[in-house]
Amino acid sequence: MRILGIESSCDETAAAVVEDGRFILSNVIASSVKEHQAFGGVVPEIASRQHLISMIPVLDEAISGCGGLDAVDAIAVTAGPGLVGSLLVGLMTAKTLAWITGKPLVGVHHLEAHLQSAFVGWPDRPPPDPEYPQLALLVSGGHTLLFHVTAPRQRTLLGASRDDAVGEAYDKAAKILGLGYPGGRIIDELAAGGDLKRYPLPVGLRHSPDLDTSFSGLKTALSQLVARLGDETIDRDLAHICAGFQHAVVTALIEKMEKALGQVPVRQIVIAGGVAANSRLREACTDLAARHGLSCILPPRSLCTDNAAMVAAAGMLAVEAGEFSGLELNAFASSTLSRRGGNLSLCPQ
Ligand SMILES: Nc1ncnc2c1ncn2[C@@H]1O[C@H](COP(=O)(O)OP(=O)(O)OP(=O)(O)O)[C@@H](O)[C@H]1O
Ligand SMILES: [Mg+2]
Repeated sequence: MRILGIESSCDETAAAVVEDGRFILSNVIASSVKEHQAFGGVVPEIASRQHLISMIPVLDEAISGCGGLDAVDAIAVTAGPGLVGSLLVGLMTAKTLAWITGKPLVGVHHLEAHLQSAFVGWPDRPPPDPEYPQLALLVSGGHTLLFHVTAPRQRTLLGASRDDAVGEAYDKAAKILGLGYPGGRIIDELAAGGDLKRYPLPVGLRHSPDLDTSFSGLKTALSQLVARLGDETIDRDLAHICAGFQHAVVTALIEKMEKALGQVPVRQIVIAGGVAANSRLREACTDLAARHGLSCILPPRSLCTDNAAMVAAAGMLAVEAGEFSGLELNAFASSTLSRRGGNLSLCPQ
């Protein structure tokens, strides 16, 4: 089955065609990140207007190389969570296509799509197979969630950030250090040349008995460090400061994952979301899995940040479960994910 995926929840306009939820036939992304850079973060109205400009060319490119719309069996689209004005552009595009072609429409939860990104492969390399139970860490610009996954789409939320999401913490840290937006990749690259012990920073909720994380204290500690050091030292020691920040973030995540491994049965570790592109986190997860004799699935870096291949892959899960959407499908801004459960299907919204 061939699914066209459409993604427009934030600042990436994306379309992709995926076979059987696993094999990418096309994957096109237009980012409006440059338009937001001067503001230090995403400006919702600019994002919506850029989606309007980019959507048709992106869609055209995604479908033209693989047989056009006729070769597509269903249309999957991100319905939320995200910026509502942005989501509506993707939703109206998908609904219009479904209406004129009579093909089934599938609404997708953006976080379910991120979690699927680990299992979508490229034509030249077979996609990895999921093994259950899994410990799945979703670390993105808006979310930090640790799940126990016992079967496809059967998840329990084990822990979450009590304040800033990890990606948000990276972006705020980059702003404090005057490094530009988005900050995650810049800090990751700078940290590679730094000494992580030179400027130790606090690991949030290290001693709490639960599996939650916290990153706002780290941001405050970084601000205080920057104020104390002054511009000249910051310029000289930027790589060391970035390494210290990254070490605190990755330690916080890995310690809680290790604690989770002592509480629930796990065969496979999976990470997803924009921060899953982080080199230190990828190494640390690989080490953690090796120490516990588990397999570890890291999505290709290009599929960590927002893309439509993951939306098509998650759409396949919904198709298999018979969960189709009507043309009344609407956008939603935030996730109803709660401590009681990790249900990411669109039904309870
Ligand atoms: N190499 C990296 N290291 C750390 N963070 C990174 C890296 N690359 C990207 N990021 C961070 O990933 C985030 C973007 O990820 P993503 O696109 O998944 O988030 P989002 O879609 O905005 O949020 P959500 O999926 O929660 O709605 C940004 O905060 C960015 O700084
Ligand atoms: Mg995202």
